[in-house]
Amino acid sequence: MKIEVVLTPAELPALKQRDLRDAICVVFDVLRATSTFVTALQKGAKAIVPVGEISEALAWRQKQPDVLLGGERDGVRIHAAQAGGVDFDLGNSPREYTPEKVRGKIIVSTTTNGTRALRACAGARTILAASFLNLSATAAFIKKIQPAQLLLVCAGTRENEALEDVLAAGAMCELLNIPLAPALSPLGRGEGVIQMSDSAEMARRAYARAKSDLAATVRTSENARRLLAIPELRDDVSFCLQRDIYPLVAAMDADGSVRKR
Ligand code: MLT
Repeated sequence: MKIEVVLTPAELPALKQRDLRDAICVVFDVLRATSTFVTALQKGAKAIVPVGEISEALAWRQKQPDVLLGGERDGVRIHAAQAGGVDFDLGNSPREYTPEKVRGKIIVSTTTNGTRALRACAGARTILAASFLNLSATAAFIKKIQPAQLLLVCAGTRENEALEDVLAAGAMCELLNIPLAPALSPLGRGEGVIQMSDSAEMARRAYARAKSDLAATVRTSENARRLLAIPELRDDVSFCLQRDIYPLVAAMDADGSVRKR
């Protein structure tokens, strides 16, 4: 298995050009899209449909009036002035996605980075939405499948890297049990069963350094600082850093919707 980390949103267009038929893509948008999607599924939502634009979400609502509209722009819920007079039902805070609101529902969601990253992986053999909330369940699924290629895709923040996504990718590498400095080989790292690209090595080492106080490190990130500055959203940061509270695997089906696997 070759492990690679897609570190920035700038790499997403190139991803679309690649042959990913042998690959599992795991998308991380820790703050907050993938954390919110796995929370919604854990709370009983039927499916999440990630879309790129507000207009796409509105088209879904036209077609299927009972879908919920979720997502954000600049971190907050999309409101009527941005969406042709339609107030979205939910923002992108995982704490909003309660069983009362989402059980049995299909949620069409558009966010700045997370939904874009999920869509960029179309064509992959399997696309997973992951976060710290369901990290071990996702790792166990990958170990069972043992794909030839594993791409850990960091959604990022706006056009930049997101520290929290890279750390989650690093935590995933650690969970896949790769020793830090294996015996020398041409790659110097994990010859044979597991091959680590430099981007994966960078992510794993970043996580190894940060894991003793992950929250303190993540709080310095661009998106964490933005959320911490919004009183009603500040608790999302600590919520999204909880580890393995959901024993679920969230996979995107051929129809483009993310469901519990
Ligand atoms: C995103 O998709 O860009 C993020 O999830 C945005 C956010 O939730 O603040």
